[in-house]
Amino acid sequence: MSATVTPAGQTPKPILCVVGARPNYMKMAPIIQAMAAHHPPIPALLIHTGQHYDSAMNDQFFLALGLPAPTVNLEVGSASHAMQTAEIMKRFEPVVDQYDPAAVLVVGDVNSTIACALVASKKNIPVIHVEAGLRSYDRTMPEEINRVLTDQIADLLYTTERSAGDNLRREGIADERIVFVGNVMIDTLLTHKPHAVAAEKTLRNGGASPAFLTAGQYGVVTMHRPSNVDDPQILRGILDVLQQVSSQLPLAFTMHPRTRQKIQEFGLESLIQSDRIVLLPPQGYFEMLGLMAEATLVLTDSGGLQDETTALGVPCLTMRNNTERPITVDQGTSTLVGQDAHNILTAVEDVLKTGGKRGRTPEYWDGHAAERIARHLGEWLGLKNLKAA
Ligand code: UD1
Repeated sequence: MSATVTPAGQTPKPILCVVGARPNYMKMAPIIQAMAAHHPPIPALLIHTGQHYDSAMNDQFFLALGLPAPTVNLEVGSASHAMQTAEIMKRFEPVVDQYDPAAVLVVGDVNSTIACALVASKKNIPVIHVEAGLRSYDRTMPEEINRVLTDQIADLLYTTERSAGDNLRREGIADERIVFVGNVMIDTLLTHKPHAVAAEKTLRNGGASPAFLTAGQYGVVTMHRPSNVDDPQILRGILDVLQQVSSQLPLAFTMHPRTRQKIQEFGLESLIQSDRIVLLPPQGYFEMLGLMAEATLVLTDSGGLQDETTALGVPCLTMRNNTERPITVDQGTSTLVGQDAHNILTAVEDVLKTGGKRGRTPEYWDGHAAERIARHLGEWLGLKNLKAA
């Protein structure tokens, strides 16, 4: 593997590494670490857009995952998609001008991902996309728009599963720009699994009732997708099902701020008031890891949890009609159950009867994805610098 080569006498330009929302942090942490461990180190500057800002969604992850303090925080906060995306772009452009980076590296599919990729691309600065090529083929999902557009303007596309590369090639992305490296989120999970907080401690701290704790088993619930929480009828339907599920299996419901707001706004709190449902605020990474690892099942609409439950071998009932992560269904532990009460209840019963899907670990979900990225990136930067010399 060649070292990063720079034209004589020049300090290598940094790579601006962008995070904005909670699911970005566990992806970026191992990448930054692997760039620092590369010989020679690949200079990285962490830029936070401030899309997520609540301490529970933000600061505690930085600490837990050992992420460096961001060089710049754009502090954009919440707004409509257009406003948020535009504001990130407006505030990111001067940062790019100031640091004159070798490339901008973005992860995942949140608004911060497309906003910063677009700014870089318009300035002819190479865009690197980690977790490229995932497709739900559902364009009503804001994340799908973010994925498709980011991939179209990215210069280097690192993928988590082979089918993602097939999706990209079908969209006309040149083969030499696509690199299958595996799943950086699983690097983080494998690093931190030994530090997971015991589920009982988290449940007890969250006020779980004696009835809950003596049941000996529980399910974990998370949801925040607009398609599940923004419509009062749909949200009511799902909360109703959760109430029914809880009569068979007590539930720990970790609540995203968006979901909490919607439940309050629609006056649906009474549907989940039960001593068999414990309502928890957003959890830290180690707490969530412990809760998931010891759960009988996870009910979720999160992308990250589909991957993490597959790596943990815990059955995941995914409350969506499609997934951009087909490997979690084909090889992993996920089953798509949508929002349909009958489907969800049948799937829960099946898990309680049979133990549910255990799955197997997908290729390259082995804890070394970020090292593969750093190795490839080192070579790529070397070549780029040789051309520039
Ligand atoms: C965003 C991502 C989604 C990701 C999710 C993880 C997009 C389009 N969506 O969705 O892909 O799965 O993050 O959480 O980028 N809020 C707070 N505190 C915060 C952040 C948000 O209270 O720190 C509330 C605000 O009312 C805000 C709402 O949550 O309006 C939604 O936040 P936003 O960042 O727009 O999207 P998420 O639903 O979090």
